[in-house]
Amino acid sequence: MSSTLGTGRSRHIALGWTIRGSSDGGQAARVARPGPCRGPRPADARLPRVDPLTFRAATLADVDELVGFWLRAGENASRPSDRPDLVRRLVARDPEAVIVAELDGRIVATVVAGWDGWRANLYRLAVEPGLRGRGLGRRMVQLAEARFRELGAERFSAMVLDHNELGQSLWSAAGYVAQDDWSRWVKAADA
Ligand SMILES: CC(C)(COP(=O)(O)OP(=O)(O)OC[C@H]1O[C@@H](n2cnc3c(N)ncnc32)[C@H](O)[C@@H]1OP(=O)(O)O)[C@@H](O)C(=O)NCCC(=O)NCCS
Repeated sequence: MSSTLGTGRSRHIALGWTIRGSSDGGQAARVARPGPCRGPRPADARLPRVDPLTFRAATLADVDELVGFWLRAGENASRPSDRPDLVRRLVARDPEAVIVAELDGRIVATVVAGWDGWRANLYRLAVEPGLRGRGLGRRMVQLAEARFRELGAERFSAMVLDHNELGQSLWSAAGYVAQDDWSRWVKAADA
């Protein structure tokens, strides 16, 4: 399995999901397509279906779609709105940082795996509302972690709002533990 992220649409991440025959020679990672959303925790969430998901690194061409996706699917309280120019800057600076899942040509899940050479931080974990509860969020975290491990990071961290119980349960299920003895201190650049 390669965990290298492609930075263009023709290069994809090879993952541990079922790989089906495909026009890209099997490069793309394939997962079962979830059925229609029937509630928060569908019993058949992980049964194989037909159509594939593809996992890849976002490119500059994805930026507008990413911003729109995060507006409807992201954790948006207590933070500044996403701006295309800032997302472009991130993708240009680190072309493998933004990992997306794509279904039928549309972005349906994201995570930002930010590595600055010192810390490995996860941001913008989000799954299309109609596709939640089927393991995709956890898969995005695994992909980000694979990137971090390859880069040599030894610890990963995520910020979660205190009232985001869904987010907290995902991080907990993925093995993350809340630190009670830290708080976040911030200052605006123009303050
Ligand atoms: C949080 C989010 C990414 C989870 O994505 P998802 O694809 O539904 O998550 P998964 O199906 O991979 O579930 C992973 C774990 O999360 C927890 N979880 C997911 N949905 C849950 C639900 N409805 N109720 C309780 N726990 C749930 C479970 O612990 C689950 O592990 P399990 O399958 O072993 O029980 C998604 O709800 C989302 O995009 N929320 C809005 C954005 C957000 O809050 N992001 C997190 C920012 S910190």
